[in-house]
Amino acid sequence: MKVTVVGAGAVGASCAEYIAMKNFASEVVLLDIKEGYAEGKAMDLMQTASLMGFDTKITGSTNDYSKTANSDVVVITSGIPRKPGMTREELIGINAGIVKTVATNLLEHSPNTIFIVVSNPMDTMTYLVHKATGLPKNRIIGMGGALDSARFKYRLAEALGAPISDVDGMVIGGHSDVGMVPLIGHATRNSVKVSEFLSEEQMSWVVEETKVGGATLTKLLGTSAWYAPGAAVSSMVQAIACDQKKMFPCSTMLDGEYGLSDICIGAPVILGKDGIEKIVEIELSDAEKAKMAESADGVRKTNALL
Ligand code: 2OP
Repeated sequence: MKVTVVGAGAVGASCAEYIAMKNFASEVVLLDIKEGYAEGKAMDLMQTASLMGFDTKITGSTNDYSKTANSDVVVITSGIPRKPGMTREELIGINAGIVKTVATNLLEHSPNTIFIVVSNPMDTMTYLVHKATGLPKNRIIGMGGALDSARFKYRLAEALGAPISDVDGMVIGGHSDVGMVPLIGHATRNSVKVSEFLSEEQMSWVVEETKVGGATLTKLLGTSAWYAPGAAVSSMVQAIACDQKKMFPCSTMLDGEYGLSDICIGAPVILGKDGIEKIVEIELSDAEKAKMAESADGVRKTNALL
């Protein structure tokens, strides 16, 4: 399994690091436009290999796409991250051009690859990769829901005073501060609905903190987060590499599912060797359906800026 990660910034390097640490890929190529940067990150990471116990070979390249040839999975993290006070949607002007060029270059050298899109605004960038490449929908996956669900579980565990391994929950909808739909009514602690343990007020707190999870970190760090985004990508790549048939909420092109079409937005999917092998339609309450529709309206507004 060969994986390319474009963008050797904090998110891209974390993706490469976690993929290598899990030791399922033979090769990870890091690519960046900044001269020597990807090579430096790759070398630094490789010097952790004997200490961390992985055999994945990580190499870096300054914008030489021939080095990415025949990648099984490519991850696009390119573009600028948001600064405190910015929304993800405000990045579209700069990131759309970059993501389109990167996707086209990658496809030229890896015609059979599966794309994972991380760059923001993520749902719109996933839609853009569809339009730019014309690939079947199983081969283009947006990362947001996997990350947002991890943040949801973190907040659920905090509110419950429980270990993370006790909780399960999922976030669907758009990867934006207002558009995320944390499915609190479906969240459980060891199969018992969290409403058995948490008050309405506590559940609202979990939902609201999850939705602004990225913004909270951007304020604290001065730039957007990288550990959890990197870990989310590594789990998705692993599900594909190891044909796990694992369910993640991811941004996917919908074709009637959840009453939506011609839009990439977070919904539960099964990830395996062919990428998105199935979109899972779960029963939503009327309130959840309304939130999903509202979220889709927001994503469509951003798509219209392309
Ligand atoms: C985040 O939420 C990078 O969008 C990403 O941290």
